[in-house]
Amino acid sequence: MSEVRKAVQKLYNTYPFPPDPLLDEPPPGYNWRWHYQSAYNFCAGMKPSQEKIRILDAGCGTGSGTEYLVLHNPYADIIAIDLSENALATAKKRLEKSGVLANFHGTITFKQLPLETVDTLEENFDFINCVGVLHHLPEPEIGIKALAQKLAVGGLMHIFVYGELGRWEIQLMQKAIAILQGEKKGDYVDGVKVGRQLFANLPENNRLVTKENQRWQWENQRDECFADMYVHPQEVDYNIDTLFDFIAISGLEFIGFSNPDSWELERLMGKNDDLMNRAKNLTPQQRYRLIELLDPDPITHYEFFLAKPPFIRQNWQDDELLKQSYPELNPCMLGWESKSLFNYQFQPITISDDEFIFMQYCNSNQGLTVGDILAQVNFTLDQVRSLIKKQLIMLTP
Ligand SMILES: C[S@@+](CC[C@H](N)C(=O)[O-])C[C@H]1O[C@@H](n2cnc3c(N)ncnc32)[C@H](O)[C@@H]1O
Repeated sequence: MSEVRKAVQKLYNTYPFPPDPLLDEPPPGYNWRWHYQSAYNFCAGMKPSQEKIRILDAGCGTGSGTEYLVLHNPYADIIAIDLSENALATAKKRLEKSGVLANFHGTITFKQLPLETVDTLEENFDFINCVGVLHHLPEPEIGIKALAQKLAVGGLMHIFVYGELGRWEIQLMQKAIAILQGEKKGDYVDGVKVGRQLFANLPENNRLVTKENQRWQWENQRDECFADMYVHPQEVDYNIDTLFDFIAISGLEFIGFSNPDSWELERLMGKNDDLMNRAKNLTPQQRYRLIELLDPDPITHYEFFLAKPPFIRQNWQDDELLKQSYPELNPCMLGWESKSLFNYQFQPITISDDEFIFMQYCNSNQGLTVGDILAQVNFTLDQVRSLIKKQLIMLTP
């Protein structure tokens, strides 16, 4: 095993991540990024045709994400891999303790395996989740290529990697701790001690302290989080341009960010027509770059979906096709049956009376098509398209 990989393994054996408590009940709420139907609907504009899918959780850590994968995909066959045996042991315990397996009809297998060697697994996967891992590989390109090769045609991959712009202060503190640790670098408990002393002693208005207090202090009360942030032996941070080079290496298609609201240029300069006009012909990559240059602070990470082509997307511009399709509610919402609810992103929204009535029909289990419902209610095809865009309903063609 490479020295870097050994060091990463040692970190996560010392401080398994995430340090979320083990509960006696399933995790609260939902996370649509781990709900295959909801994620597929976001990416493809329609409901996937099957529920019996194969999922790989690459770098599952202590299993907080894996637990949602189990909860949201009850018929899936899931393999969760990680370098750290301590993290894997906690992940197994988490699932056993919470009772989430009681209603699970698929299979779940945990394996200690570097994700660079996933080619040793027999199967290909319809959905690969790789959150917070690739940026810790000695060669992230090898990792993303290995995962891409295990993705089935038409399959989806969800990735989360760090962004350099919003982690500037973190990088400085990482380097400062390393200098002070000297020969003790690689002793993660000592690194946490040095880092905590620095934050306690730097002037109150120091930039690193201010950022830590504003943004990270709450989660960094846990040593596991503090170590993951400030004493990591291996971290590669991206910007939009290096990110898109990285994605290109995978040979996969970029589908979109899974925090789409952050990537709307309108929120930054939408009030000025001249500026918006100038931006009109930019490529998506240029547009994203412009957004992060104008608003670097929140760009601490990138989270996005990739797909293995050909990946069929439905835009529902064909009226007849739309009328013949079968709608149902997006499973990731909270508060239905009410007009005020939480959407897939867990944002509070209020829907109109007409939307509410249409959605009641969608939820009636009568096997109605969009056309059948429109024959009975006062609603237009464009309003249906708007519900699809807002991820409130999903359609089967
Ligand atoms: C920051 S944690 C993320 C855990 C989990 N994905 C989450 O988001 O909650 C990173 C995890 O990736 C694992 N990891 C790092 N390099 C790896 C590799 N080359 N192969 C497999 N797992 C790796 C670590 O052991 C650690 O548990």
